[in-house]
Amino acid sequence: KNIAIIMGGYSSEYDISIKSGKVVQKFLDSSKYNAFPIKITQKKWVYVDSNNTEFAVDKSDFTISPNGDKIHFDCVFNAIHGTPGEDGLLQAYFELLGLPHTSCNHYQAALTFNKRDLLSALKPYGVPCATSYFLNKGDAVDEVQIVKKVGLPCFVKANKAGSSYGISKVYKKEEIKSAIDKAFTEDSEIIIESSLEGTEVSVGVITYEGKIAVLPITEIVSENDFFDYEAKYLGKSQEITPARISEIQQNKVTQLAEFIYKTLGLKGYTRSEFIFIGDEPYLLEVNTTPGLTEESILPQQANTAGISLEQLFSSAIEEALR
Ligand code: DAL
Ligand code: MG
Repeated sequence: KNIAIIMGGYSSEYDISIKSGKVVQKFLDSSKYNAFPIKITQKKWVYVDSNNTEFAVDKSDFTISPNGDKIHFDCVFNAIHGTPGEDGLLQAYFELLGLPHTSCNHYQAALTFNKRDLLSALKPYGVPCATSYFLNKGDAVDEVQIVKKVGLPCFVKANKAGSSYGISKVYKKEEIKSAIDKAFTEDSEIIIESSLEGTEVSVGVITYEGKIAVLPITEIVSENDFFDYEAKYLGKSQEITPARISEIQQNKVTQLAEFIYKTLGLKGYTRSEFIFIGDEPYLLEVNTTPGLTEESILPQQANTAGISLEQLFSSAIEEALR
């Protein structure tokens, strides 16, 4: 089968996505699949062959013709983090073309990538989350109201971004404005959340061999003030799998992560973040194209579960084709 591995994207997570895409390419079972790495940027969509020669993708049907003959793909392996691979844009495009892809459907992708909308969709089910304050670009910034609502310290985040780009932990009212300016460089919407102080865990939920499965849970111990970019990718954290949490905590977070996956109708492999306040897991976010780099958490979790990357990626493709 011909598999297009899409990587790159339009956001700050471009480099991470290229790394994820290369890992997918490396571990794709070559006895079953022909891998075609496809780089998607705002300027160009290209297939990059083993000599690094680039061939334009025909966007009308998502095909390539490196030797003159059209190559059609059986499935798209989505390794793009951030827009347009994690926010539903490419999902909608592939769904219009009738081309199977490994991530969740376009609506679910758009919903989960929007932190505010994700939390509002889950609130009626009683899913605990931080208190938040929302801002659009151009809105007046009222620091007194913000602090009144979310308290200090608080987290200022781009509403639609990943890998901690644009996030600041703010301790003083006077720092809010510059944190907002920074977050606006990543997105035109901002979410400011109360700080949840407790054990942070990352929970991988996947569909594997036709069934929803929760992978061993990872505990995040950041050397930095929070699990920021440096902690995520430059070794400034310990990621402990399985997490050192109580059985009650483990049961609660497992059930909640699976509930969210089912309730939202997610597909493929996902990774959700929670912080425990006492025994209660508070939801931070859901990633529907989680990182697959050597530093990323989901591959470590699969490994702990005894699932090789080759098996994980084959399963993602088979689920998409099901
Ligand atoms: N957004 C990054 C890639 C992750 O969730 O792993
Ligand atoms: Mg994320």
